[in-house]
Amino acid sequence: MAKPVEILLGVTGSIAAYKSLELLRLFRKKGWNVTVVLTRSAAKLTGIDSFRALSGREVGLDLFPKYRIPHDSIHHIDLAVQPDLTVIAPATANIIGKLAHGIADDLLSTILLAIPSEKVSSGRVLIAPAMNSNMWLNPIVQENIRRLAAFGYRFINPETGELACGMVGTGRMASPELILETCCACLTQLPDFTGVRVLVTTGRTEEPLDPVRVITNRSSGIMGLEIAKAFKAAGSTVKLIAGEVTVQLPPDAIRVRTTAEMATAVENRLPETDILVMCAAVADYQPVKTARAKLHAPNLTVAFRRTPDILKIVSSAKYRPFTVAFSQDDSVKMAHKKLREKQPELIVANPVKTAGSSTIRPVIIYRSGKTRRLQEMSKTDFARELVKIVGTIYRSNKKGNTNHVHPL
Ligand SMILES: Cc1cc2nc3c(=O)[nH]c(=O)nc-3n(C[C@H](O)[C@H](O)[C@H](O)COP(=O)(O)O)c2cc1C
Repeated sequence: MAKPVEILLGVTGSIAAYKSLELLRLFRKKGWNVTVVLTRSAAKLTGIDSFRALSGREVGLDLFPKYRIPHDSIHHIDLAVQPDLTVIAPATANIIGKLAHGIADDLLSTILLAIPSEKVSSGRVLIAPAMNSNMWLNPIVQENIRRLAAFGYRFINPETGELACGMVGTGRMASPELILETCCACLTQLPDFTGVRVLVTTGRTEEPLDPVRVITNRSSGIMGLEIAKAFKAAGSTVKLIAGEVTVQLPPDAIRVRTTAEMATAVENRLPETDILVMCAAVADYQPVKTARAKLHAPNLTVAFRRTPDILKIVSSAKYRPFTVAFSQDDSVKMAHKKLREKQPELIVANPVKTAGSSTIRPVIIYRSGKTRRLQEMSKTDFARELVKIVGTIYRSNKKGNTNHVHPL
């Protein structure tokens, strides 16, 4: 049996420390072993006993504890070396500043400094800052973050919204779900896409026949949502454009209904996109006429025309990002034709039964025409696989707009 993943969860003195309990619960649900180390400030803001109960282990608090329990003792060097992943969530401005300047004056900061540099450079130390937006925007804090990022520390940027102090701004810790996704990404060695802007289309578009009826398909939106999550976990800034879906979307997703609306939404965002993943199942045909009132005819013959071809629009656009197109058909011949005519960097061909399913049996077709058949897998696993595949090609051929904006 595989050895369980070992996590060190460092919790510092932010009001967001209560969210670390949920994060710890999610880690445990994954079957991961977690050792929690709290700073003195974090211990004042949260309950040590809750962390002890949820982790099932002694909680680290002091560098010089009064008593050492032989089996549960917290040795800072062991805790620095043994974990597969070290996660600081929430991370205060203080711990970020101390780490950036090599200060080791308590248990957590001493552990952080004792982590081998190859672990840091391979992205095994994750930091999820949480602070008031003035603190977050403070150039000293930003400078510290840049300094640490240059050594390989991975940051999960805070969200924008209402903060505990009542201000509205950036500084709220990323959600425990996103932190978990990012941990999974690090453990599966996803490439680092920090600063790369990704646009993903997902779901199904609908073409109205009359005020109540639509022409559409069975796509659920799962695949695109998983791809968006995987890129986000790899550090990208991700925007989703979604038609109708049967899944819960992030609140900032751009919602569209018809293929023409999706085409406009994609076109509008091309100048701000480095990688485009076109996963949506668009309605290829629309009724030539949409009836204003509900149709009641006993028999109906409907004339259709093609909807806008989004991939074609993208292929001839001024700002043409690195493009991954999905092609749903039982024959991969259609995907090869699409590749020849519209020249995306990559095509993911998948059989029609993929729509609405939780699994996919993808065929990857590269620009060269080279074809790679993958085994059937969950859409979550394939999303991560796709991020790895894109990572390899994106880095080597440097396609897409190169003026990446670093999110910090
Ligand atoms: C109620 C309360 C909430 C706080 N929230 C934050 C926060 O979200 N982020 C932050 O950087 N500091 C916050 N602080 C300030 C830190 O607790 C303080 O800088 C402390 O020295 C951090 O110590 P530590 O990094 O060792 O945990 C807060 C303080 C209090 C009293």
